[in-house]
Amino acid sequence: MEEEDQALFIQEPQHRPSVSTMEAQGIPVIDLSPVTSSNPSISSIDALVKEIGSVCKEWGFFQVTNHGVPLSLRQNLLEASKNFFSQSLQEKKKVSRDESSPSGYYDTELTRNVRDWKEVFDFLAKEPTFFPVIADELDDRVTQLSNKSPQHPSHFRDIIQEYIEEMEKLAFKLMELIAMSLGLQPKRLEEFFMRGQTSLIRLNYYPPCPFPHIALGVGPHKDESALTILAQDEVEGLEVKHKTHQEWVRVKPTPNDYIINVGDIIQVWSNDAYESVEHRAIVNSEKERFSIPYFFFPAHDTEVEPLEELINEKSPSKYRPYKSGKFLLSRMNSNFKKQTDENLQIHYYKLA
Ligand code: OGA
Ligand code: NI
Repeated sequence: MEEEDQALFIQEPQHRPSVSTMEAQGIPVIDLSPVTSSNPSISSIDALVKEIGSVCKEWGFFQVTNHGVPLSLRQNLLEASKNFFSQSLQEKKKVSRDESSPSGYYDTELTRNVRDWKEVFDFLAKEPTFFPVIADELDDRVTQLSNKSPQHPSHFRDIIQEYIEEMEKLAFKLMELIAMSLGLQPKRLEEFFMRGQTSLIRLNYYPPCPFPHIALGVGPHKDESALTILAQDEVEGLEVKHKTHQEWVRVKPTPNDYIINVGDIIQVWSNDAYESVEHRAIVNSEKERFSIPYFFFPAHDTEVEPLEELINEKSPSKYRPYKSGKFLLSRMNSNFKKQTDENLQIHYYKLA
């Protein structure tokens, strides 16, 4: 990171870490073998769908085991990520993200207007990715984005692409289970991702922080995605806001498992049945930490709104439609500029 001005990173007192972390057992763990093994029984799939439905309602966050993603791909990517971030700032800046593309390196992200204690490398899952030029809803210009890829480590692009393919497979499986748990046709949500995607993978690097009690690796936020699949290394840091207790729950490191969370788009599609849950990452003064979220997004021009099967006279739609790409772009812009207002949140689209 750049020479630091500590003041930039100081969180408001209510957002500082370790106030009342619930020492819980962590988040629920779900075994995906009914959909990853070769001869699943119908009854085991039914039970899995029920389980998914209840954790999405109660937690919005869960861990998956037996997910079918080869461990070696994740290890290779974590290794590549370590190699990349261990370079000099000057080297890393050769692949800095810029106005024309959200892909690349940066260390100046703001979540809720405070600097995060982290460095990041973003990589688009699809190349090219079609994306709006500006966030203004009335402007319909579209651009094609492509990735920056570093010289070092070698094979960076291949390693990350191989991993992305596996993430996409897992994401489609989860979307199917989530659709079924909402009483929808299994492939109902797939259509939104077939015309294109703005899915994104992010390499997060959290260096040791000299003042971990007042800073955060990522400030409290909800993901804008449909869902997020996170790999974290063996150092803990992720915390999830428990829905009913309103306390922060630390998620234990998961060397083989993935952490899944419902994003804003599923919240809207499900008309609030499954809510996007607030989370954050804390830092520590000794260890560096690496994590890799994959944000699964539909095509940029998807009109996100509650699904018609899930609304009726008794439970009318709670949201007016918004365009997925415009929302994402507006949030990306706010992550780089300190603003006086709160950044755009989906409750802005809530119908009274
Ligand atoms: C994120 C995020 C958590 C982590 O990047 O959106 O929530 O543990 N990361 O790195
Ligand atoms: Ni997040």
